[in-house]
Amino acid sequence: MMTSAIVSAMTLLHVTGARPNFPKAAPVIARLAELGVSQRLVHTGQHYDDRLSEVFFRELNLPRPDVNLGVGSGSHAQQTAALLIGLEAEILATRPDLVIVYGDVNSTMAAAIVAAKLGVPVAHVEAGLRSFDMSMPEEVNRKVTDALSDLLFVTSPDAIAHLADEGIPSERIHFVGNPMIDSLLSHRDRLDSAAARARLALPEDYLVATLHRPGNVDDPETAAELVAVVHGAAALADIVLPLHPRGRAILEALGIGDHPRVHVVEPLGYLDFMSLVSGALAVITDSGGVQEETTVLGVPCLTLRPNTERPVTITHGTNRLVTTRSIVAELAAEVAARRARSDRTAAPTVVPPLWDGQAGARIATVLVDWLDDRSAR
Ligand code: UD1
Ligand code: UDP
Repeated sequence: MMTSAIVSAMTLLHVTGARPNFPKAAPVIARLAELGVSQRLVHTGQHYDDRLSEVFFRELNLPRPDVNLGVGSGSHAQQTAALLIGLEAEILATRPDLVIVYGDVNSTMAAAIVAAKLGVPVAHVEAGLRSFDMSMPEEVNRKVTDALSDLLFVTSPDAIAHLADEGIPSERIHFVGNPMIDSLLSHRDRLDSAAARARLALPEDYLVATLHRPGNVDDPETAAELVAVVHGAAALADIVLPLHPRGRAILEALGIGDHPRVHVVEPLGYLDFMSLVSGALAVITDSGGVQEETTVLGVPCLTLRPNTERPVTITHGTNRLVTTRSIVAELAAEVAARRARSDRTAAPTVVPPLWDGQAGARIATVLVDWLDDRSAR
């Protein structure tokens, strides 16, 4: 595909800022670069620890951000306000032809608001996901971002239906697959669970857990239940817990690491994390992305949440929703079944439609065509 001279003269601005943005943006940026499109990458600075940010730039072949707005942490209002101010200055100064936002974090919503108010078109990658749980900050971010977007790239058919229900015109919606899975598939050959396991001194049989949702880790009572769950899981197998900073203080104060088979570690780099997940007996999580990655890797995923905005990982994957009451029994059954299989590998899985590693290429093609059409009008 050739990019026209008019589109070549345009600039697309990608807004990223938090850990889940980076594996989604990487394949889109790479495919647009192959088409010769001029791009600018903003890092808002929402996440700033090396393990939540820099490591992804090193491992996912992301270009260096052109600017880091350094917004940092704060309450939702404080952080969103800093994002709005920083992003407005950036967009006014650089006048991009299109702003591309990813997922459902505060940086995503803030960029959509600023661009819409400055009359710059917005493309949302991973549009239309809905948990129908407005107590999740991400649900607010998803709805606001989608309402303001001119191009909505969806990862699964249920998302198309949600957007239609909200009155989004169908011509704005593009079912392209999942760029998070492009990143996973393009790095799959580099995943080495034995090496990652050895680095952490884990035995052959182990579990992986990630927990960071406010609904799980902010309230001390719920956090205490999580500690009991992790210790219950450790009775079945060693469990490695790369702990997100959000819950670290409370979970550590509640003694999450006080068990010989619980390995609490810093958040892991992408390759180490995906390597460990690929070789795990099962995964316990409340992450969005991890539900998708385990589906593609065929690793059982027990999601400690009352709902998911990613139901395709249940219907077409290895995911299931569990409660703090049900999880240890369900995990015991899963671990026993896995240990009983002679080859010990993960069960084969039917992956959701279009989760084939080509989402970034589809998005790049739609974007270039759309900009071409727009410039012709
Ligand atoms: C954010 C996203 C969430 C996503 C998660 C991925 C929002 C509303 N939430 O949640 O959807 O699943 O990222 O990881 O955008 N902190 C550090 N170092 C950092 C960043 C944060 O220590 O580099 C600590 C700070 O104490 C901060 C807290 O983590 O207050 C929460 O950070 P924040 O970016 O507000 O939200 P997350 O919980 O990370
Ligand atoms: N991840 C990682 N190291 C970790 C935990 C997660 O590299 O220790 C990656 C993994 O690819 C995951 C992504 O970061 O899908 C986003 O994770 P997170 O759970 O922070 O965000 P969510 O998807 O819940 O918004």
